[in-house]
Amino acid sequence: MIKLLTVIGARPQIIKAAALSRAVRKHAHQVTEALLHTGQHYDANMSQVFFDELQIPAPTFQLQTGGGSHGEQTAQMIQGIERVLNEYNPHAVVVYGDTNSTLAAAIAASKLHITLIHIEAGLRSFNKTMPEEVNRILCDHVSTFMYVPTHQGIDNLAREGFNIDYTGMPSPDKPRIRHTGDVMYDNSMYFAKLAQAQSTILVRLQLKQNAFVLATLHRNQNTDSAERLSSIFKMLLHLVERNGQHVVLPLHPRTRKMMPQLLDADLQHKIESTTSLIIIDPVSYLDMIQLEQHCNLICTDSGGVQKEAYFFKKPCIIFRPQTEWVELIELKKAFIVDADFKRFCEVCAELSEDSNQHWPQLYGNGQAAEYILQDFLSVVA
Ligand code: UD1
Ligand code: UDP
Repeated sequence: MIKLLTVIGARPQIIKAAALSRAVRKHAHQVTEALLHTGQHYDANMSQVFFDELQIPAPTFQLQTGGGSHGEQTAQMIQGIERVLNEYNPHAVVVYGDTNSTLAAAIAASKLHITLIHIEAGLRSFNKTMPEEVNRILCDHVSTFMYVPTHQGIDNLAREGFNIDYTGMPSPDKPRIRHTGDVMYDNSMYFAKLAQAQSTILVRLQLKQNAFVLATLHRNQNTDSAERLSSIFKMLLHLVERNGQHVVLPLHPRTRKMMPQLLDADLQHKIESTTSLIIIDPVSYLDMIQLEQHCNLICTDSGGVQKEAYFFKKPCIIFRPQTEWVELIELKKAFIVDADFKRFCEVCAELSEDSNQHWPQLYGNGQAAEYILQDFLSVVA
């Protein structure tokens, strides 16, 4: 029996883990999975809610490493993960994406010579001031299995010197690299109907279908800069005031903590008194994809939400200077606005004239997790 240890910690990883856990249940005669939660995200609405909703097994191992500086947080995680690896002795460690939890698990596993499986490998923003860019590059370079969601990701790895065609026995020096599609697409397709049936968020917030904008905001470049944070809130207020839109903003705790410190009193007052700018606590996944399915525009600095906008055929404005998901930009389905108000107004005008309904399948067929598990088992089982 192959033993996997999946390391999760931040909200998007908990959600992504649901897809592989479904595949593992189908192959229960060959493989078992235990979950280690680093505790990077710890509020109930950033963590527990997803276990309750998405049929993810409860973590067997739980660390408490939330908060603190990158160094403190990552160091505590490495120590805790190393202890669990020595105790549990898995055949392989599974990590997702690019957070500090991903990096910590990659370091702990590789130093103990435990096979590392990186799901969402190969993505690059080409901006090493982003903590995520550093995390994903380091993680890729110690992985034995790299599962890459997009063609662009494969090209990125080839440019870094990886042999993308290697078919022999894989190792960290000669990793196995496969283009798989995206496990987030698996989840969006799997849970979309359930969200329609179960989520009551549209009624709770009194929203009309296709008549509101959905926004999210949490990236440190935005939350830690008074100038950028103010500019982005002015854009959201502009949508309300000029375009008469309702804007729903399920707010990440990081952003909520920074607003009183960074926004001036006038702007803060305007935000609080504008009832059509609906700021709420983070929502569950089913509520989130229900909002995504029924809004008319998504504005975000999230990596995952950019793609979900595409999955649900919604245009997307990106509050970042670049994205790893360049295919969205090339197809003109997502638009880089960064924190530039003028560019934001130009994009809004462009969007109102756009009627292109061509949404090719960029992220696989909804079976990425099944493909990943079968591929891994074909090598090791
Ligand atoms: C992390 C990831 C980021 C990912 C995001 C997903 C890193 C470097 N960053 O960013 O890539 O896009 O998660 O949401 O790993 N906080 C709470 N409650 C929580 C979680 C966080 O209050 O449950 C607050 C704390 O003040 C904490 C701050 O948010 O210090 C930042 O949390 P952290 O996990 O360090 O980074 P994120 O910004 O969430
Ligand atoms: N999400 C959610 N509730 C929210 C905001 C986001 O369930 O209030 C989900 C969203 O649907 C996506 C994932 O969280 O699946 C994205 O996570 P996040 O934006 O925190 O991180 P990123 O993708 O930028 O790393």
